Amino acid sequence: MPTLHLASTNPHKLKEFARLFGSAFILTSVQHTSSSTQWLEDGSTFMDNSIKKAVFYSKLGSGLVLADDSGLCVAALGGEPGVHSARYAGPEASDAENRSLLLARLARVPEEAREATFICALALARDGKLLTTVEATCPGRITAFPGGSEGFGYDPIFVPSGATATFAQMPPAEKDRYSHRARAVAQLLPILLTKRWG
Ligand code: IMP
Repeated sequence: MPTLHLASTNPHKLKEFARLFGSAFILTSVQHTSSSTQWLEDGSTFMDNSIKKAVFYSKLGSGLVLADDSGLCVAALGGEPGVHSARYAGPEASDAENRSLLLARLARVPEEAREATFICALALARDGKLLTTVEATCPGRITAFPGGSEGFGYDPIFVPSGATATFAQMPPAEKDRYSHRARAVAQLLPILLTKRWG
């Protein structure tokens, strides 16, 4: 079975990828296969960051490296937090602090104007060369209060279009029916299986 080295140490993302790839690939985290060099996410788009991450880590070892850069864009905030999603409330901010800041900034925004979109950019590289990229979105809205305890990040305050519950109120498999990450993997899988890079 081919192996994919994920350029992420976020345990929640790794869990989601394990569900989404199923038994098609063996997944490892690059943390286990290469040096612990800190990656600097300084790109202006999710795709920029994802490509830089994948190419950077693929130079440190052999095999296929998959990078995920993702986050939440809120229309009423001009697209914030965007590429700063992980550090919205500061460099060391927790998920709860990021969510609180977002809810505070949306405090006067009525329900009908709380549209938001999750974006996931995936980049695949090997030996320092970019092989392919895919990007997918998940539209939805931001709730007034957090709800649910599943998932991570902004899951407790995001209801995807077509649903009535937040991502954090859904069983993981239901999140996978809507999520940006699931949609991106659905695009990538047929490419991976056809090209047989592994
Ligand atoms: P990254 O590791 O720089 O890609 O940061 C992604 C950040 O975006 C995470 O720390 C979360 O705050 C947010 N994010 C991305 N995907 C999701 C998701 O599926 N649910 C909730 N938050 C997410």
